[in-house]
Amino acid sequence: MKFKSCESSGDFMTNLSKDVTTKICEDVSIKSKSDIVKIKNKFIDEYRRIDEDSQFPSILSEYVKNGRSSKEICKAMIDFLYVNNDLCNNDLIWLIDNIDEESREYLFSKSGKTRDRYYGRNVYLRGLIEFTNYCKRECRYCGINAFNKKANRYRLTMKEIEESCDIGRELGYSTFVLQGGEDPYFNDDRMIEIVSMIKEKCPNSAVTLSIGERSYESYMKLKEVGVDRFLLRHETTNENLYKWLHPLSEFESRKQCLLNLKKLGFQTGAGFMVGLPWYSTVDYVRDLRFIKKLQPEMVGIGPFITHEDTDMHHYKSGDLDTTILMLSLVRLLLPKVLLPATTALATIDENGRKKGLDVGCNVIMPNLSPKTHRKDYSLYKNKKSSGSESAQALDMIKREIEGYGYICNMSRGDSKLTGSYTIKYK
Ligand code: 5AD
Repeated sequence: MKFKSCESSGDFMTNLSKDVTTKICEDVSIKSKSDIVKIKNKFIDEYRRIDEDSQFPSILSEYVKNGRSSKEICKAMIDFLYVNNDLCNNDLIWLIDNIDEESREYLFSKSGKTRDRYYGRNVYLRGLIEFTNYCKRECRYCGINAFNKKANRYRLTMKEIEESCDIGRELGYSTFVLQGGEDPYFNDDRMIEIVSMIKEKCPNSAVTLSIGERSYESYMKLKEVGVDRFLLRHETTNENLYKWLHPLSEFESRKQCLLNLKKLGFQTGAGFMVGLPWYSTVDYVRDLRFIKKLQPEMVGIGPFITHEDTDMHHYKSGDLDTTILMLSLVRLLLPKVLLPATTALATIDENGRKKGLDVGCNVIMPNLSPKTHRKDYSLYKNKKSSGSESAQALDMIKREIEGYGYICNMSRGDSKLTGSYTIKYK
């Protein structure tokens, strides 16, 4: 797929090859129930495919032999997870499918305790700058995908980014997260310029990028200029579903990007959306296993939320209970992970942020972008936003977090995992 240069006009969405556009539009028009059944069947193979590669034996088979109750089995699995930070895939599947209310609370107390053990009650605050909503990608779920003609596109100027950082620095932030669509305008030279500016102004701050897939060479240049962290959610490990969600892309390339980021020494963030259509417990466990193997320093998990101007406008959003269950399991599988209570989680439930923190989250990313553009960075509907200036927004978030009994921490809050990583993927 070729994009014309968008350096001047910025209107590269209209330059997509006609063939590709037509192909996607055909594929997009899923009208009847039987179309949906066909697609669903396409994913069935993936549902069933899961490698059992945990080194641990099944608690389930042992306990079932002894005729134990479901509650006893849940407790044994949670205790095992808490002590060993792992559980075999089949047990994880069983636990997710069978956990009762009381055992959920038990699980959450264990994951909360695990966070406390490594990070105490600290919640790290990161200043988020959404610097462009131009995007060349085709992600069906995302409100800023290239095909959404209704999106009101913007790019922050260098001056606006600089001003956001100045405000952030004065407020005490020491991590800046630059997030944007995959916007070819922000080529390596421009990104290097931005990162150098921030590093010069705030030499002790960490810079995190969330700007999608790029070549190894590009990631290397960004690492060399001082980028500390990189967020790139894998979105789903179900390869067929990945393909349907991103018709022009492959899961394999996503995975390769994550491996490259790890290899280059970035503190790396993976993660997935909860409640994607046709998702099964096996899919969740494959996602969890992927994360366990990759050992990312950060994991972003939030519910999928429908956006009315995307192809997926008729699918329902993910739910709170599954999202916090996944967050809790990730905390137990990767005890030292930096785990944000995401904006999507706060969007689907007014207590979402608190619930996330209570099951082991320890990062929040308040918005530092200029107020004028915030509503245009609309990945999903009703995205939670305080509607206030950065200073007031920070103040409100601080009060909220402290009200829940946590400590707001404005330091860099680097991962405690750094340095101890060995690549298990080939
Ligand atoms: N609902 C929830 N999360 C979304 N993202 C994009 N679109 C949506 C949506 N509709 C998430 C993706 C992406 C991150 C930046 O935002 O997981 O990686």
